Amino acid sequence: MIFKQTLSNFDPKKFLKLYWQKKPLLIKQGYPAFRNPLPAKKLLAIAGNPTAEARVILEKGGERAWELRHGPFTKNTFKRLPSSHWTLLVQGTNHWNKALQLLLEDFYFIPQWRIEDIMTSFAVRGGNVGAHLDNYDVFLLQAEGRREWRIGTKPILEDDFLPDYEVKLLKHFAPTKTFILEPGDILYLPPRIAHHGIALDDNCITHSVGFRAPALPEILDDYLTHLMCAIDPNLRYADPELMLSKESGLINPKALNKIIQLIQKNINNPAQIKRWFGQFVTQNKYSQLLQAGEEITLSELKERINTGEQLLKNAASRFSYIKEAKKIFLYANGEEYILPLSMLPIVQLITAKTAVWQKELPKMLSYKKFLELLVELVCAGHFYFSDV
Ligand code: SIN
Ligand code: CO
Repeated sequence: MIFKQTLSNFDPKKFLKLYWQKKPLLIKQGYPAFRNPLPAKKLLAIAGNPTAEARVILEKGGERAWELRHGPFTKNTFKRLPSSHWTLLVQGTNHWNKALQLLLEDFYFIPQWRIEDIMTSFAVRGGNVGAHLDNYDVFLLQAEGRREWRIGTKPILEDDFLPDYEVKLLKHFAPTKTFILEPGDILYLPPRIAHHGIALDDNCITHSVGFRAPALPEILDDYLTHLMCAIDPNLRYADPELMLSKESGLINPKALNKIIQLIQKNINNPAQIKRWFGQFVTQNKYSQLLQAGEEITLSELKERINTGEQLLKNAASRFSYIKEAKKIFLYANGEEYILPLSMLPIVQLITAKTAVWQKELPKMLSYKKFLELLVELVCAGHFYFSDV
């Protein structure tokens, strides 16, 4: 059984009102007596996997100041590193560690489509990634050792980085607050708040629960690409009402209005935007972690659940849904499932948790529509049977 720790000393409602996207918050002992589910040995092993996204940043003692190396890293890589001033960063550790995936559920008071992943850092004394800013909200959970955080108070609006380094370091950093975080403490930072975290101990581990907020260029790039696949290629400008004009060089206002309308009518389509958005925000950037589905029939699925097999959600499957008057659009890693509104309690159950809904599962087995959906989700690799 995986030990589930609970976020404490924290009021999500108050947090959303006063701090989320507004100002930093130190949550002292957010996880009292925190037990780190991903100690250094396990983290270093993940960093050795070619499918993991791992980086090492050496402030000093590398080939140059602020050297950035990319994984995978072997045991030998770490043996050859200096005794201080380096950090290992591993992205998406919740995909590799079930307990971290469960911990991520404590942050589901924020919509899942806004959640990116957990990044875990391991540092030796003095290890740090420099004074920088991130474009996203982050909860920095101290897991082992202590880290000193120096932070600014106001978001920095302009990008102004030191040139010539492989890591983005702020040219100007004037911290206004300093905190020393111990295991179980959490520091929340809104986007673009300057911060600098320095490891005070040799085994300093921090889990960063990071969020995503799509930037307009990303939104337009993906939406317009999506649209290009769906649009009728024969829709074209036409002007049967063309009138004689002496100004053959002029693009007249009527022609311009037609173009504006053609674009507006075909791009600004709320129904299409909503469904594209569901697909867009549930896309998974870790395609290497997606699981192959298991071909299963409805009766096999029922039998395996009845015999007590655990059905788990793949941590790499991102779920979200859109509710409409008569339908639900359920999204899993960019795939769309159109369901009747009567299935709302099931969709809520499926998306709410990774494994806890297992308790409710046997009760639902008589509901055919539920089983049919589960079969689809198992075949697509979003759910899988596990013996843990
Ligand atoms: C770290 O854990 O060392 C860095 C995390 C961050 O500053 O975003
Ligand atoms: Co940061």
